[in-house]
Amino acid sequence: MIELQRPRRLRQSANFRSIAKETEIITNKLMLPLFVTDGSKVNKPHPKLPGCVTYSLDELKVFLKSTKDLGVKSYLLFGVSEKRDENGSEALNSDSPVCKAIQEIREMTPEAIVCTDVALDPYTSHGHDGLYKDREVLNDETVDVLCKMSVLHAEKGAQLIGPSDMMDGRVQAIRQSLDESNFLNVGIMSYTAKYASSLYGPFRDTLSSEVKGDKKTYQMDPANRREAIRELDLDIAEGADIIMVKPAVHYLDIISDFSERSDRPVAAYHVSGEAAMLEAGAAAGLFDRRRAIEETSISIFRAGADIIASYFTLDLVRWSNGGSTLK
Ligand code: PBG
Repeated sequence: MIELQRPRRLRQSANFRSIAKETEIITNKLMLPLFVTDGSKVNKPHPKLPGCVTYSLDELKVFLKSTKDLGVKSYLLFGVSEKRDENGSEALNSDSPVCKAIQEIREMTPEAIVCTDVALDPYTSHGHDGLYKDREVLNDETVDVLCKMSVLHAEKGAQLIGPSDMMDGRVQAIRQSLDESNFLNVGIMSYTAKYASSLYGPFRDTLSSEVKGDKKTYQMDPANRREAIRELDLDIAEGADIIMVKPAVHYLDIISDFSERSDRPVAAYHVSGEAAMLEAGAAAGLFDRRRAIEETSISIFRAGADIIASYFTLDLVRWSNGGSTLK
């Protein structure tokens, strides 16, 4: 018979639980996704996911002012555009809302990190992340455009480039282009294992993105775990600074694999569909919203993520400051 062990000793009070706690939500490690568009007076939360908001530039400024004191450390920027064409040419427009927003954020909060999403899907008429010819998403031709887009964002002041397109070889090509343009300190947060997930719905609503067919020839099959290791090794060899897994909660095993295998920070994108599920469940009275969001976020950290891109960033920051949810 083994001696009776009493693990409950460490759970007997809030202070005991607190010193025994293995994982904390560190709000410095949250990235806030922001969506920016043309026009003025646009401040449009997704109806099912209030943390997913599209701003015009004037409203973005108001937002940044109002959240200045909260101390959000990093932003993940996406474009929302009606200017769509076959080649996604708006991606290379140096006056696009994304380009202006990069400058605006860098000016208003110089210490905050701006990471931009690099892919063509906000700007293509077919909704694909790359160039699309004869029902095929072209790899190398797309990579050339992504390199130009990355350099453009770096010129505007982005400190991190986030290629989310899953083309082969893009990390190496983007690194080389940034270096050639002397952006040696601009990093790459690669969407290393991005799965062809059903959970991007609210994001695609936000972009008004209708994809011709699906993205399965470039995004990964949700069934595959070893293949993610292959992508990881490639991205590390190609020079990614931060590696990302996306979505997050359904892919905790991948996050755990990455954190064990890699010497780079691991980011996880808690994507729009995952976040909207929590909002829907809480709205239906199935569970407490705050507890569910905190538990989910801590689970992603516990699995091994160092960074989370989260639509709940503002809530989590306010809660950690002792505040309550703003409605
Ligand atoms: C595409 C992109 C997507 C997301 C981020 N970048 C959607 C897609 O691949 O179709 C999804 C993010 C989310 O759902 O929150 N470049």
